[in-house]
Amino acid sequence: MPANIPMTSQVLPGPILVFDSGVGGLSVVQALRERMPDLPLVYACDNAAFPYGLKSDIWLKQRVASVIRCLISEIQPCLLVVACNTASTVALPELRELCSIPVVGVVPAIKPAALMTRSGHIALLATQGTISRPYTQQLIDEFAADCEVLKVGSNQLVQLAEIHLAGGEVADAQLLEILQPLLAEPRLDTVVLGCTHFPLLQPQLVRVAEAAGAQHWQWIDSGAAIARRVLHLLSNAGYSNPCCPDSFVRSCWLTATLDTNSQLPESLLRFGFDHLQVLNHPSI
Ligand code: DGL
Repeated sequence: MPANIPMTSQVLPGPILVFDSGVGGLSVVQALRERMPDLPLVYACDNAAFPYGLKSDIWLKQRVASVIRCLISEIQPCLLVVACNTASTVALPELRELCSIPVVGVVPAIKPAALMTRSGHIALLATQGTISRPYTQQLIDEFAADCEVLKVGSNQLVQLAEIHLAGGEVADAQLLEILQPLLAEPRLDTVVLGCTHFPLLQPQLVRVAEAAGAQHWQWIDSGAAIARRVLHLLSNAGYSNPCCPDSFVRSCWLTATLDTNSQLPESLLRFGFDHLQVLNHPSI
């Protein structure tokens, strides 16, 4: 049973904290809400340090630990979801050591992709950081050793997802260019979206890929698996229908104030977060 979640009550001792560098974790929020609409969630994004995809391992480990420490002390969550592949593939062991609550990380869905593919040719679309991590290679060696895995890093796609959520236009031509290395591999049949930002653009990515001839691709991300894991931990701890004092929920914590013309608050509202708060944390 996870630490710090008592068995007796349905009232959670704190909300679930979902953390990412930017808006990507909202795709995980969506997956959680699809399964448990009333789950008390608080969202936090380290927008001051966005994007994480090009940061060094050492810097990221320190940064994520320092921001998470401050968030936990402010929010007192009962469970942490690190809804960021880039941070999870480098900092999970340290975060588990730091936190006395259960920590659920998000890593690329290589294992289910290896089970789904018929041709044995998979693409992993993720940040530069994620595709170059030893952890990602270990996942491939362990679960997809008999597959060809094409690793494609795109930090531009992360930026485009942010633009999309901030109400901006993402041109099909930009997505087509990012998909070119995948389209050049005719045997490919399965695409892993290994960055939580990417499912936010999935309908457009699918449409662009299909128009370029890839109607047979199967797309997978980690959202559903994370939601199952969170629900499993909660129900094992006695919370099959958890709730939480109202004041906890609907807040989104940021590490930097937003531009006055940012459309992000409207997007956050669509995901149920109507109260923005800026975290006071020591910068590293
Ligand atoms: N959403 C993040 C991920 O899953 C990171 C994006 C970034 O900050 O580069 O990897």
